[in-house]
Amino acid sequence: MPVISFKKNRTPVTVETGANLMEALLNCGLPVASSCSGDGVCAKCRIQIISGAENLTPENETEKFLRETKKVASDSRISCQVQVLGDITVDATYW
Ligand code: FES
Repeated sequence: MPVISFKKNRTPVTVETGANLMEALLNCGLPVASSCSGDGVCAKCRIQIISGAENLTPENETEKFLRETKKVASDSRISCQVQVLGDITVDATYW
C-alpha cells in the first residue's frame, strides 16, 4: 500500500491504493485548507509534491481548470482531485 511521507518532522502514513489525497491527509490529523470541502472549486487544498508525483493520478479537467485560473504552482496538486497510487512525499506551507 502507498506510503505518504512528509518534508517536515511527521511520521509517514500508509493509505489504501487509490485513496483521495485530501481525505488521507485529513484522516491522519493534518489540516488541509479548503473553502469548498473538496468540491473542486477553491484550489486552497493545493499540496506541494516533493517526490513521487508519478504515483498520483493524472490531472482531471477540474484540476486543469483550477491550475490555470488559480495559478497553482507546477509542483503542487489540488489534493481533493487526486488519488494516491504509490509512495509520495508532500508538504504544505502551513504545516
Ligand atoms: S478543497 Fe476546494 S478545490 Fe480542493
